[in-house]
Amino acid sequence: MAALLRVDDLYKDFAGLKVLKGVSMTLERGHKTAIIGPSGCGKSTLLRCINYMETPTAGHIHLDGELFGETQNGGKYQRMSEKQLARQRSQVGMVFQGFYLWPHLNARDNVAIAPMKVRGMEKRAAYELADAMLEKVHMSHKRDEFPERLSGGQQQRVAIARALAQQPKLMLFDEPTSALDPELVGEVLKVIQELAAEGISMVLVTHEVRFARQVADHVIFLGDGVVVEEGAPDQVIGAPKHERLRSFLKQILEH
Ligand SMILES: Nc1ncnc2c1ncn2[C@@H]1O[C@H](COP(=O)(O)OP(=O)(O)OP(=O)(O)O)[C@@H](O)[C@H]1O
Ligand SMILES: [Mg+2]
Repeated sequence: MAALLRVDDLYKDFAGLKVLKGVSMTLERGHKTAIIGPSGCGKSTLLRCINYMETPTAGHIHLDGELFGETQNGGKYQRMSEKQLARQRSQVGMVFQGFYLWPHLNARDNVAIAPMKVRGMEKRAAYELADAMLEKVHMSHKRDEFPERLSGGQQQRVAIARALAQQPKLMLFDEPTSALDPELVGEVLKVIQELAAEGISMVLVTHEVRFARQVADHVIFLGDGVVVEEGAPDQVIGAPKHERLRSFLKQILEH
């Protein structure tokens, strides 16, 4: 069976700035890859290319054996229509550093809206799904609250529930805890850990290297747009080979 996610030789330039310079990775079903690396090395760009929020300059993505974001005609690739893309993208749940909840909707409505709008789910089924997802992130008690009355950690958990409500094949997390006050980080990491234990496939960009070591089965150190080092967490984080990775870890772990 094809891998769940295959990233082949991905390049991304922004107006002449070369950000990704040939990144490849594979994720099997149920696996968890953590991506670490210094600020500006291209981690967010990589995640955004994976779900085609950014169009790669070169290289291709396959999700569950299907070409993602593009159509292929003979040897020619073309970005697919936004409509086709929206359908494909609903297979990928994305959680950002900022939570981007709808301010005028309560927690339940925030989670239920996409299944209704994107997948045409009936209201009752969508709210049942929303309630189940809010329970998964331990937010049932706040389901009628609006975002402004939730803490950052609670908002992020609602954002995770919202992504899960798409019933995605793959979850992408881009530094989901870096906008949070330190005392709120733990509750979000706990939820991610629970999802990982449940067997949800994920790619997680994080600067929480201790967490990455616990939760991931594969770690990629991205430096300046290329994979500098990758492997088992105990090896990459516990026994790094490259000097750049060693100094990066030293800096992070000293804080
Ligand atoms: N839309 C854009 N237009 C132009 N340049 C961009 C754009 N998005 C990202 N970049 C540049 O690409 C580089 C990589 O950015 P990216 O956000 O992927 O880094 P990162 O590894 O996620 O960093 P951080 O750890 O700070 O989040 C940076 O130099 C950034 O300025
Ligand atoms: Mg980033």
